[in-house]
Amino acid sequence: MEWDSKKFLKIYVINKIVMIKITPEYIILRRCDKMQKLKVGVIFGGMSTEHDVSINSAKSVIQNLNKEKYEVFPIYIKENGEWFKCDEEILSQIANPIRYLKNIDVVFPVLHGLYGEDGTLQGMLELARKKYVGCKVLASSISMDKVYTKIIFDRAKILQADYIYLRKFKENYIYIDKNFNEVVYDVSKICEIVERKLNFPVFVKPSNSGSSIGIKKAYNSKELIESIEYASKFDKKILIEQNIEGREIECAILGNEEPVTSALGEILPAEDFYTFDAKYKNIASKTIIPAKINRNIEKKIKKLAIKAFKAVDGSGLSRVDFFIEKGTNKVYINEINTLPGFTEISMYPKLFKQEGIEYSELLDRLIQLSLE
Ligand SMILES: Nc1ncnc2c1ncn2[C@@H]1O[C@H](COP(=O)(O)OP(=O)(O)O)[C@@H](O)[C@H]1O
Ligand SMILES: [Mg+2]
Repeated sequence: MEWDSKKFLKIYVINKIVMIKITPEYIILRRCDKMQKLKVGVIFGGMSTEHDVSINSAKSVIQNLNKEKYEVFPIYIKENGEWFKCDEEILSQIANPIRYLKNIDVVFPVLHGLYGEDGTLQGMLELARKKYVGCKVLASSISMDKVYTKIIFDRAKILQADYIYLRKFKENYIYIDKNFNEVVYDVSKICEIVERKLNFPVFVKPSNSGSSIGIKKAYNSKELIESIEYASKFDKKILIEQNIEGREIECAILGNEEPVTSALGEILPAEDFYTFDAKYKNIASKTIIPAKINRNIEKKIKKLAIKAFKAVDGSGLSRVDFFIEKGTNKVYINEINTLPGFTEISMYPKLFKQEGIEYSELLDRLIQLSLE
């Protein structure tokens, strides 16, 4: 190996992988057990409606990162965007996040929603030339935006609920067709279009959303108008979607070039649909792992999950969500989450646990994948 004095040498071992960097001062070739720990920055909180969900996910991640392998640096982003480091429960502000990250080997973003799961943080980490867990900029931003996810899935010919795309414009809405032609209508004309193209009930969603925040199911035109106006408070871009009556199935994915799928899980929401409360508050909501599904449909879902992951240019991890339609057994894709919930009782880790991969090992694998 040629000696490059500008670099510096550090040796890390994670799961038998030895990583070498070169320092100007010295070369260390120590026994594996004495090697320096990998410095992992876990970023959580964030400027999104899923701030609190992220804190819960991060608690589990921080607790379960193997402290023999990793030195963990919890990094908290407040709702207003200020960064803090957390030393033994004491928060102190980080004036220059990019400079702070220089000391860290790999970042684990445990953020959900805007400014964390949507490619913005990933872009910052690219600029800072940091390795990080999970999807890169493009996959993150496509997957966070429900309209653009739909466009990609259409191209990939993955069956999904019919939809209408609107953008709020002053007091009105712009109806945007599949070829991006735009017409401005008032809300009652929009309702006419929706009723012509879709059947009640329909789902009205802010294009950028998560944890079901801003989403309503509308059963009639009055509810449709209310739902559109409600969704427009969360995002200018609005998606109106045909309701798919059926079972809700989730599949986790792990990997880069050759991703693997987990067991499938089924959601049994305790409410009319999987609302925020049904997800996090209503203990009557149930998950069934593994989901009891006919083998052919199971195979189909796993294949589609990988296809969807690749279609959005995914890497590291994602959770891909589907519906199996009642009566027809048709499989519809609902969405892809590039940073799914990560508490110990969240679906993503539980689906891999079903495959024999414990939570800590899952974290090891994700970190390894980020260093590939
Ligand atoms: N087209 C649909 N048909 C039936 N149920 C839906 C549909 N879209 C969403 N839902 C229900 O709403 C929930 C939240 O919608 P989703 O698009 O997954 O948003 P989020 O990104 O907030 O999780 C889903 O888990 C499901 O229960
Ligand atoms: Mg969802």
